[in-house]
Amino acid sequence: MPGVEDVKALEAEALAALEAASTLEEVEAVRVRFLGRKGALTSILRSLSQLPPEERKEVGARANELRARLDTLIDEKTASLKARAAGAEEIDLTLPGFVWPAGRPHPVMQTIAEIVDIFIGLGYTVAEGPEAELDYYNFTALNQPSYHPARSTHDTFYLTEETLFDLDVSEEEARSRSRSIALMRTHTSPVQIRVMEQQKPPIYIVAPGRCYRRDVPDATHSPIFHQIEGLAVDEGITFADLKGTLELFARRYFGPDTLVNFRASYFPFTEPSAEMDVSCVICKGEGCRLCKGSGWLEVLGAGMVHPAVLEGVGIDSERYTGFAFGMGPERLTILKYGIPDIRMFFENDLRFLRQF
Ligand code: DAH
Repeated sequence: MPGVEDVKALEAEALAALEAASTLEEVEAVRVRFLGRKGALTSILRSLSQLPPEERKEVGARANELRARLDTLIDEKTASLKARAAGAEEIDLTLPGFVWPAGRPHPVMQTIAEIVDIFIGLGYTVAEGPEAELDYYNFTALNQPSYHPARSTHDTFYLTEETLFDLDVSEEEARSRSRSIALMRTHTSPVQIRVMEQQKPPIYIVAPGRCYRRDVPDATHSPIFHQIEGLAVDEGITFADLKGTLELFARRYFGPDTLVNFRASYFPFTEPSAEMDVSCVICKGEGCRLCKGSGWLEVLGAGMVHPAVLEGVGIDSERYTGFAFGMGPERLTILKYGIPDIRMFFENDLRFLRQF
């Protein structure tokens, strides 16, 4: 007569057999062996009636429990083997999820977007020009004389053999030759000329973009860098508009307590020309290492568009006036965050870039 011990032994045997079964046929064989009409568990269940009532109750309960359990396990294993055979993936919902690494814009691009947004808020639109530029737009149309040292091959990457700096020709001859000399633009100012050739005043544009100079890389120089150019040409524009606009920009970018200072300067394409300083972001004007004790940081060049530049693109300089400015987003980012070396922007070390 079967007892509780027999059911326990059968349980161990059945579970091991099911575990070992790896095909649908083998699982079916396990079912027949234990649950089939002549199966081992079936015969225990059949013989229950012959047991004394007190044993029948316990052995019966255990045997029925085992039958239900085996039924379920066999069904599950059958389903999973069928799914695998159909090529379906088994999904393990307990596995940890995969977190996609989040990307973000480069810090210099973030600064450009922030500054461009400030000017868009003032009604400016965005203009662009080519990085490979003609000498005419980069220098000549900007009133740069052909003997100017910025035009030497020391400072500029030329794409054609001839340079006006090396050529000893009249200014008139230089003007026409400069349309066939190509170079990598050394600043974004040529975009001013391209815009004014295409569009009549009122003009209010900003032009961000990449520039190139033959500088040896160090903590403050990089042969590739960015600039943001600005140009406003309209009737009645004065130096007060230049100051008001750039002061507002400085307060929005560096913070509402920022002070500005304009110093006289020289650029061939503006007259008068100025450089703008802001009160030091670290010491607020007290004097520290960043501002070299002066309390001020130089942030941009600007000026009233030279009448010769306006006339060169066919804009009546008696009727229209304008101001222009140019700034370096690398430097502005460096000042805002206290970055020690401009080369960090171009090394693409993720430990640096992830901080922005
Ligand atoms: N192009 C100048 C530079 O590369 C910056 C600049 C100064 C741009 C004065 C301007 C300006 O538009 O008015 O250093």
